[in-house]
Amino acid sequence: MKKVRIFDTTLRDGEQTPGVSLTPNDKLEIAKKLDELRVDVIEAGSAITSKGEREAIKLITKEGLDAEICSFVRALPVDIDAALECDVDSVHLVVPTSPIHMKYKLRKTEDEVLESALKAVEYAKDHGLIVELSAEDATRSDINFLIKLFNEGEKVGADRVCVCDTVGVLTPQKSQELFKKITENVNLPVSVHCHNDFGMATANTCSAILGGAIQCHVTVNGIGERAGNASLEEVVTALKVLYGYKTNVRMEKLYDVSRVVSRLMKIPVPPNKAIVGDNAFAHEAGIHVDGLIKNTETYEPIKPEMVGNRRRIILGKHSGRKALKYKLDLMGIKVNEEQLNQIYNKIKELGDLGKYISDADLLAIIREVLGKD
Ligand code: KIV
Ligand code: ZN
Repeated sequence: MKKVRIFDTTLRDGEQTPGVSLTPNDKLEIAKKLDELRVDVIEAGSAITSKGEREAIKLITKEGLDAEICSFVRALPVDIDAALECDVDSVHLVVPTSPIHMKYKLRKTEDEVLESALKAVEYAKDHGLIVELSAEDATRSDINFLIKLFNEGEKVGADRVCVCDTVGVLTPQKSQELFKKITENVNLPVSVHCHNDFGMATANTCSAILGGAIQCHVTVNGIGERAGNASLEEVVTALKVLYGYKTNVRMEKLYDVSRVVSRLMKIPVPPNKAIVGDNAFAHEAGIHVDGLIKNTETYEPIKPEMVGNRRRIILGKHSGRKALKYKLDLMGIKVNEEQLNQIYNKIKELGDLGKYISDADLLAIIREVLGKD
């Protein structure tokens, strides 16, 4: 089984989610959770951003976590100095490579971008840092320029390179082809960084791995700029279950970490979010629950416990008697046939009125029915 490295950018790209801002202590709490999860790299932030950001990164580096602690930097000595002040292990050194970014954002030519990138890599290496050299908007860039940048980067000491799908325009097929071509022409380990503008980030990330990338950038709950980044829980689980790759991630902690990040970032997890959503293993339809009672694999691709989630039986107008009985058994509530029918009828009535029957509603119905006897 091949191993994929997980580079978590929840605390950098994830924190760029509109409206999100974390305190240094929030960032430390998340970093500790990510370390427990056993991600390989934690991009803790961008040291140049502010005093508070440096305070947060310093708290994290002082904690002595197992993960490599990284700061995002531009190709500028001042950014690298700020990262050094925070005592990080590595820098994620990013240069824009697409014509549109170079022309309008940087107002620089390819040669100028190349020169500044190489100087910055040399500067970071001279100061003992691990360097991941990243091409921003790489998927709208000239591939020959990317290959040149990465190979020149290797000559001045870069340790890894990264291809960013900054505005999420890859497709799984294009992703596999692109990463095959890059990994065939570059000796350094290649990383993938996908955004979710078309809802393709997880698929594109997995395809990049198939194409030869060995590390992927992800965020918890897929948070990030605009539609977000590739989601850690989806990528890790899909890589393992659908593609047969290994990661160091302790998958049974995924749900817990998702909720910690959701609480601190104040962004709810959508109920239908794959893997960690509360509906990811929820069942309502009678036929589904009936199948599930016989064998959970009928309607679940994996066991919820594998990712720290749990099975939920939802009662509503689609539920059957067997589902109700199954749920009451799970709740340890014993009823006779007549009581079961009464509870069942009440659930159907409420369901027809468009009501969602929560566990509290169910308990109230049970009390009413059992109280009558
Ligand atoms: O999406 C992106 O291109 C990024 C880079 C700045 C690394 O987050
Ligand atoms: Zn990004």
